[in-house]
Amino acid sequence: MSEVDRWRPSIDDIYSIAQDMLAKKASGYSIRKASKNDIESIVYINRKCLPENYPVYFFEELLERYGEAFYVAIAPDDQVVGYVMCRVEWKPGFFNKWLLRSLHIVSIAVLPEHRRKGLGYALMAHALKSGKEKYQARETYLEVRVSNSPAISLYKKLGYKVVKTIAHYYLDGEDAYLMARPL
Ligand SMILES: CC(C)(COP(=O)(O)OP(=O)(O)OC[C@H]1O[C@@H](n2cnc3c(N)ncnc32)[C@H](O)[C@@H]1OP(=O)(O)O)[C@@H](O)C(=O)NCCC(=O)NCCS
Repeated sequence: MSEVDRWRPSIDDIYSIAQDMLAKKASGYSIRKASKNDIESIVYINRKCLPENYPVYFFEELLERYGEAFYVAIAPDDQVVGYVMCRVEWKPGFFNKWLLRSLHIVSIAVLPEHRRKGLGYALMAHALKSGKEKYQARETYLEVRVSNSPAISLYKKLGYKVVKTIAHYYLDGEDAYLMARPL
Protein backbone atom coordinates (compact mmCIF):
# COMPACT_ATOMS: atom_id res chain seq x y z
CA MET A 1 0.00 0.00 0.00
CA SER A 2 1.46 3.41 -0.97
CA GLU A 3 1.58 6.43 1.37
CA VAL A 4 -1.26 7.99 -0.62
CA ASP A 5 -3.43 4.90 -0.15
CA ARG A 6 -2.61 4.75 3.55
CA TRP A 7 -3.77 8.33 4.11
CA ARG A 8 -6.86 8.24 1.92
CA PRO A 9 -9.87 8.63 4.25
CA SER A 10 -12.06 5.53 4.48
CA ILE A 11 -15.68 5.74 3.34
CA ASP A 12 -16.83 5.18 6.95
CA ASP A 13 -14.63 8.07 8.12
CA ILE A 14 -15.95 10.32 5.36
CA TYR A 15 -19.52 9.42 6.31
CA SER A 16 -19.02 10.23 9.97
CA ILE A 17 -17.13 13.49 9.17
CA ALA A 18 -20.13 14.43 6.98
CA GLN A 19 -22.56 13.89 9.87
CA ASP A 20 -20.42 16.05 12.20
CA MET A 21 -20.02 18.76 9.57
CA LEU A 22 -23.77 18.93 8.92
CA ALA A 23 -24.52 19.16 12.64
CA LYS A 24 -21.98 22.02 13.03
CA LYS A 25 -22.37 23.99 9.80
CA ALA A 26 -25.82 23.11 8.42
CA SER A 27 -28.23 22.89 11.29
CA GLY A 28 -31.73 21.98 10.08
CA TYR A 29 -30.48 20.62 6.73
CA SER A 30 -30.63 16.93 5.87
CA ILE A 31 -29.67 14.44 3.16
CA ARG A 32 -32.11 11.82 1.91
CA LYS A 33 -32.59 9.57 -1.08
CA ALA A 34 -34.14 11.30 -4.10
CA SER A 35 -37.65 10.41 -5.24
CA LYS A 36 -39.64 11.02 -8.44
CA ASN A 37 -41.24 14.08 -6.84
CA ASP A 38 -37.81 15.70 -6.55
CA ILE A 39 -36.96 15.51 -10.27
CA GLU A 40 -38.34 18.96 -11.13
CA SER A 41 -36.21 20.63 -8.42
CA ILE A 42 -33.16 18.56 -9.39
CA VAL A 43 -33.47 19.60 -13.05
CA TYR A 44 -33.83 23.24 -11.92
CA ILE A 45 -30.66 23.03 -9.79
CA ASN A 46 -28.75 21.31 -12.61
CA ARG A 47 -29.69 24.04 -15.12
CA LYS A 48 -28.92 26.81 -12.66
CA CYS A 49 -25.54 25.48 -11.53
CA LEU A 50 -23.95 23.63 -14.44
CA PRO A 51 -23.47 24.01 -18.19
CA GLU A 52 -23.80 20.21 -18.54
CA ASN A 53 -27.57 19.74 -18.75
CA TYR A 54 -29.53 16.61 -19.55
CA PRO A 55 -33.09 15.86 -20.66
CA VAL A 56 -35.57 15.03 -17.89
CA TYR A 57 -35.74 11.35 -18.90
CA PHE A 58 -32.01 11.00 -18.17
CA PHE A 59 -32.54 12.00 -14.51
CA GLU A 60 -35.59 9.71 -14.30
CA GLU A 61 -33.68 6.78 -15.74
CA LEU A 62 -30.75 7.17 -13.33
CA LEU A 63 -33.18 7.48 -10.44
CA GLU A 64 -34.95 4.29 -11.50
CA ARG A 65 -31.76 2.27 -12.12
CA TYR A 66 -29.37 3.64 -9.48
CA GLY A 67 -31.74 5.24 -6.97
CA GLU A 68 -29.75 3.89 -4.02
CA ALA A 69 -26.97 6.32 -4.95
CA PHE A 70 -29.12 9.33 -5.92
CA TYR A 71 -29.41 11.78 -3.02
CA VAL A 72 -30.81 15.23 -2.39
CA ALA A 73 -29.97 17.90 0.21
CA ILE A 74 -32.97 19.41 1.96
CA ALA A 75 -32.99 22.92 3.51
CA PRO A 76 -34.76 23.73 6.80
CA ASP A 77 -37.76 25.02 4.77
CA ASP A 78 -38.01 21.58 3.06
CA GLN A 79 -36.74 22.81 -0.32
CA VAL A 80 -34.39 20.62 -2.36
CA VAL A 81 -31.14 22.61 -2.61
CA GLY A 82 -28.65 20.06 -3.93
CA TYR A 83 -28.30 16.62 -5.48
CA VAL A 84 -25.84 13.95 -6.46
CA MET A 85 -26.61 11.49 -9.25
CA CYS A 86 -24.59 8.38 -10.11
CA ARG A 87 -24.34 5.40 -12.41
CA VAL A 88 -22.77 2.02 -11.68
CA GLU A 89 -20.60 0.76 -14.53
CA TRP A 90 -18.47 -2.32 -15.23
CA LYS A 91 -15.04 -1.15 -16.37
CA PRO A 92 -11.33 -1.84 -15.98
CA GLY A 93 -10.15 -0.29 -12.70
CA PHE A 94 -7.75 2.63 -12.44
CA PHE A 95 -6.02 1.16 -9.38
CA ASN A 96 -6.27 -2.47 -10.41
CA LYS A 97 -6.73 -3.50 -14.01
CA TRP A 98 -9.44 -6.09 -13.43
CA LEU A 99 -12.94 -5.47 -14.69
CA LEU A 100 -14.85 -4.10 -11.71
CA ARG A 101 -17.93 -2.19 -10.68
CA SER A 102 -17.24 1.54 -10.53
CA LEU A 103 -19.46 4.27 -9.13
CA HIS A 104 -19.49 7.08 -11.71
CA ILE A 105 -20.47 10.43 -10.20
CA VAL A 106 -22.48 11.77 -13.13
CA SER A 107 -23.54 15.12 -11.64
CA ILE A 108 -23.51 17.01 -8.35
CA ALA A 109 -24.61 20.55 -7.53
CA VAL A 110 -25.68 22.69 -4.58
CA LEU A 111 -27.54 25.99 -5.05
CA PRO A 112 -25.13 28.94 -4.57
CA GLU A 113 -26.83 30.35 -1.45
CA HIS A 114 -26.50 26.98 0.33
CA ARG A 115 -22.82 26.29 -0.42
CA ARG A 116 -19.89 25.95 2.02
CA LYS A 117 -22.07 24.29 4.67
CA GLY A 118 -20.83 20.77 4.00
CA LEU A 119 -23.76 19.74 1.78
CA GLY A 120 -21.61 18.80 -1.23
CA TYR A 121 -19.36 16.71 1.01
CA ALA A 122 -22.35 15.07 2.70
CA LEU A 123 -24.07 14.26 -0.62
CA MET A 124 -20.86 12.63 -1.83
CA ALA A 125 -20.43 10.75 1.47
CA HIS A 126 -23.90 9.21 1.09
CA ALA A 127 -23.34 8.30 -2.57
CA LEU A 128 -19.93 6.72 -1.86
CA LYS A 129 -21.29 4.68 1.04
CA SER A 130 -24.21 3.39 -1.06
CA GLY A 131 -21.94 2.71 -4.03
CA LYS A 132 -19.71 0.58 -1.85
CA GLU A 133 -22.32 -1.15 0.29
CA LYS A 134 -25.43 -1.41 -1.89
CA TYR A 135 -23.84 -1.76 -5.33
CA GLN A 136 -20.53 -3.40 -4.27
CA ALA A 137 -18.58 -0.85 -6.34
CA ARG A 138 -14.80 -1.18 -5.85
CA GLU A 139 -13.83 2.20 -7.31
CA THR A 140 -15.42 5.56 -8.03
CA TYR A 141 -14.58 8.10 -10.72
CA LEU A 142 -15.77 11.39 -12.18
CA GLU A 143 -14.91 14.08 -14.71
CA VAL A 144 -14.39 17.70 -13.67
CA ARG A 145 -13.44 20.87 -15.56
CA VAL A 146 -9.78 21.70 -14.99
CA SER A 147 -10.88 25.25 -14.00
CA ASN A 148 -13.42 24.07 -11.37
CA SER A 149 -11.29 24.58 -8.25
CA PRO A 150 -14.14 24.31 -5.70
CA ALA A 151 -15.17 20.89 -7.03
CA ILE A 152 -11.58 19.67 -7.43
CA SER A 153 -10.81 20.57 -3.84
CA LEU A 154 -14.00 18.84 -2.64
CA TYR A 155 -13.01 15.66 -4.51
CA LYS A 156 -9.43 15.76 -3.18
CA LYS A 157 -10.81 16.04 0.34
CA LEU A 158 -12.81 12.88 -0.40
CA GLY A 159 -9.65 11.02 -1.40
CA TYR A 160 -9.97 11.26 -5.19
CA LYS A 161 -6.85 11.85 -7.25
CA VAL A 162 -6.36 12.93 -10.84
CA VAL A 163 -5.70 9.81 -12.93
CA LYS A 164 -5.89 11.38 -16.38
CA THR A 165 -6.51 14.63 -18.26
CA ILE A 166 -8.98 14.35 -21.13
CA ALA A 167 -8.30 17.03 -23.75
CA HIS A 168 -11.30 19.01 -25.02
CA TYR A 169 -13.75 16.85 -23.07
CA TYR A 170 -16.39 19.56 -22.75
CA LEU A 171 -18.45 21.02 -25.61
CA ASP A 172 -16.78 24.43 -25.20
CA GLY A 173 -13.36 22.79 -25.60
CA GLU A 174 -12.26 22.82 -21.94
CA ASP A 175 -10.20 19.85 -20.70
CA ALA A 176 -11.43 17.52 -17.95
CA TYR A 177 -9.57 15.86 -15.12
CA LEU A 178 -10.63 12.30 -14.63
CA MET A 179 -10.45 11.73 -10.87
CA ALA A 180 -10.85 8.38 -9.13
CA ARG A 181 -10.39 6.54 -5.85
CA PRO A 182 -10.80 2.99 -4.64
CA LEU A 183 -13.84 2.28 -2.44
C1 LIG B 1 -18.80 21.77 -6.00
C2 LIG B 1 -20.02 22.02 -5.08
C3 LIG B 1 -21.02 20.88 -5.28
C4 LIG B 1 -19.54 22.02 -3.61
O1 LIG B 1 -20.69 22.12 -2.79
P1 LIG B 1 -20.64 22.73 -1.30
O2 LIG B 1 -21.86 22.30 -0.60
O3 LIG B 1 -20.35 24.19 -1.35
O4 LIG B 1 -19.35 21.97 -0.73
P2 LIG B 1 -19.00 21.76 0.82
O5 LIG B 1 -19.50 22.89 1.65
O6 LIG B 1 -19.39 20.40 1.20
O7 LIG B 1 -17.41 21.85 0.75
C5 LIG B 1 -16.58 20.77 1.13
C6 LIG B 1 -15.15 21.12 0.78
O8 LIG B 1 -15.00 21.31 -0.64
C7 LIG B 1 -14.06 22.37 -0.88
N1 LIG B 1 -14.74 23.54 -1.45
C8 LIG B 1 -16.06 23.70 -1.66
N2 LIG B 1 -16.30 24.92 -2.22
C9 LIG B 1 -15.10 25.52 -2.36
C10 LIG B 1 -14.68 26.77 -2.88
N3 LIG B 1 -15.57 27.66 -3.37
N4 LIG B 1 -13.37 27.06 -2.89
C11 LIG B 1 -12.46 26.19 -2.41
N5 LIG B 1 -12.78 24.97 -1.88
C12 LIG B 1 -14.09 24.64 -1.87
C13 LIG B 1 -13.49 22.74 0.48
O9 LIG B 1 -12.41 21.88 0.74
C14 LIG B 1 -14.68 22.42 1.38
O10 LIG B 1 -14.32 22.22 2.73
P3 LIG B 1 -14.28 23.50 3.73
O11 LIG B 1 -15.56 24.26 3.55
O12 LIG B 1 -14.14 22.85 5.08
O13 LIG B 1 -13.09 24.29 3.30
C15 LIG B 1 -20.66 23.40 -5.37
O14 LIG B 1 -19.65 24.40 -5.36
C16 LIG B 1 -21.42 23.47 -6.69
O15 LIG B 1 -22.59 23.12 -6.77
N6 LIG B 1 -20.75 23.96 -7.75
C17 LIG B 1 -21.42 24.10 -9.05
C18 LIG B 1 -21.68 22.75 -9.68
C19 LIG B 1 -20.39 21.98 -9.89
O16 LIG B 1 -19.35 22.54 -10.22
N7 LIG B 1 -20.47 20.65 -9.73
C20 LIG B 1 -19.34 19.78 -9.92
C21 LIG B 1 -19.21 19.40 -11.34
S1 LIG B 1 -17.89 18.24 -11.58
